[in-house]
Amino acid sequence: MSAIRPAAVVVLAAGEGTRMRSATPKVLHELCGRSLVGHVLAAAGELAPENLVVVVGHAREKVTAHLAEVAPEARTAVQEQQNGTGHAVRMGLEALGGGVDGTVVVVCGDTPLLTGATLAALAGTHTGDGNAVTVLTAEVPDATGYGRIVRDGATGAVTAIVEHKDADEAQRGIREINSGVFAFDGRLLAEALGKVRTDNSQGEEYLTDVLGILREAGHRVGASVAADHREIAGINNRVQLAEARRTLNDRLLEAAMLAGVTVVDPASTWVDVTVTFERDAIVHPGTQLHGATHLAEGAEVGPNSRLTDTRVGEGARVDNTVAMGAEVGPQASVGPFAYLRPGSRLGLKAKVGTYVETKNATVGEGTKIPHLSYVGDATIGEYSNIGAASVFVNYDGQEKHHTTVGSHCRTGSDNMFVAPVTVGDGAYTAAGSVITKDVPAGSLAVARGQQRNIEGWVARKRPGSAAAKAAEAVSREAGGEG
Ligand code: UD1
Ligand code: CA
Repeated sequence: MSAIRPAAVVVLAAGEGTRMRSATPKVLHELCGRSLVGHVLAAAGELAPENLVVVVGHAREKVTAHLAEVAPEARTAVQEQQNGTGHAVRMGLEALGGGVDGTVVVVCGDTPLLTGATLAALAGTHTGDGNAVTVLTAEVPDATGYGRIVRDGATGAVTAIVEHKDADEAQRGIREINSGVFAFDGRLLAEALGKVRTDNSQGEEYLTDVLGILREAGHRVGASVAADHREIAGINNRVQLAEARRTLNDRLLEAAMLAGVTVVDPASTWVDVTVTFERDAIVHPGTQLHGATHLAEGAEVGPNSRLTDTRVGEGARVDNTVAMGAEVGPQASVGPFAYLRPGSRLGLKAKVGTYVETKNATVGEGTKIPHLSYVGDATIGEYSNIGAASVFVNYDGQEKHHTTVGSHCRTGSDNMFVAPVTVGDGAYTAAGSVITKDVPAGSLAVARGQQRNIEGWVARKRPGSAAAKAAEAVSREAGGEG
């Protein structure tokens, strides 16, 4: 790839994106775990350009802060007023000292489906053919809004790009469109940009006019037609954003399936670009996988689960669960209806069952928390069983405290572990206990009121009630037998 390594990639991201009707600048809208501009930068990064410049303008504090996070190697050029794509590129080149020798690739910040491979092919054609400019084009079913590629009737050579708003009826019939992606000779680009005028319907400096200018000056103008027109879709409104998300999601799931992952219902399964799988993982319908989520071999997730930055071990089962920042050990079982919050770490064959919430909790190998419990700020050893409806009482209203439960413990149902507290290895606790003091290894802790039965209370206090009659029937039967 080094042969076509461009001198610079310039990403245009200064526009407001009015058609998004949003307080958020267009290029920061998200799909599949990345911003629009984040996707473009990832594709550009595959070319390993010597310089990477992002032209910012509208809401540039927000955009610049985002860039510092996702592409710290990028430098920014400011376009104070959005006077058009040509003006934007001019600002970009100024940040590079007015121009560079070698190839300059220009991409728009709103084409998230563009791949590094397509950019590399464009740069390859450009250098191979010795062009002054090469435009990436595509045949689209609906060209509305796009710049049209005008070709010479006889030779088929590209003669101009005409914006939709400036096109006549015949030109509007053209289905080959400008993707907004170009490879230029850096010096010729800088020169031609100086000649771009603003006598068009939008009163802007159009980058697309550079083609005609270079052609008239006798330079080679070429085009590279994208194999898949969906790749170059520019996002201008939220309908297009949803379509692009669908397309990218399909692309990601297709790659996963071809690599050996079963996706039961691709239509209801959503993944981020950063999600990874091993073979024979199974994803059931209604599942969303986000961030650095990883499914190991044979892991089974869903239906109806949302996992963020969560690692699911080999052969583990996660059903109807929300998890974030969690680690699920091999062959562990989670859900249905579990909530794993950050710092939840489940060991081999551990179980977090129905209506259980965990947070900052290490659950050892083979340990089970089967029903209706909250386990926060805890360490539980191996092969222990936590009784149903237990709460690890970690918060005193001001600070969080830690609970430790050892290995092979059997804690009763409806226990409160008032942290900080420790239950030793092999200890038992009685149902309904409020554990406020440490339990030594091997002990049984009983921490609840003693039961007292007041006989005949119902007959005395609720005479004639259904309860009293039922009790009377029992005593009659007992009397009859005796
Ligand atoms: C542009 C092209 C059009 C092409 C389409 C592909 C021009 C004149 N038109 O139209 O031929 O078919 O993209 O999607 O180039 N931007 C700036 N500064 C500006 C204006 C725009 O940075 O002053 C940026 C925007 O943030 C955006 C990109 O350039 O990322 C494209 O701008 P947009 O307004 O979306 O152009 P289109 O009308 O879609
Ligand atoms: Ca656009």
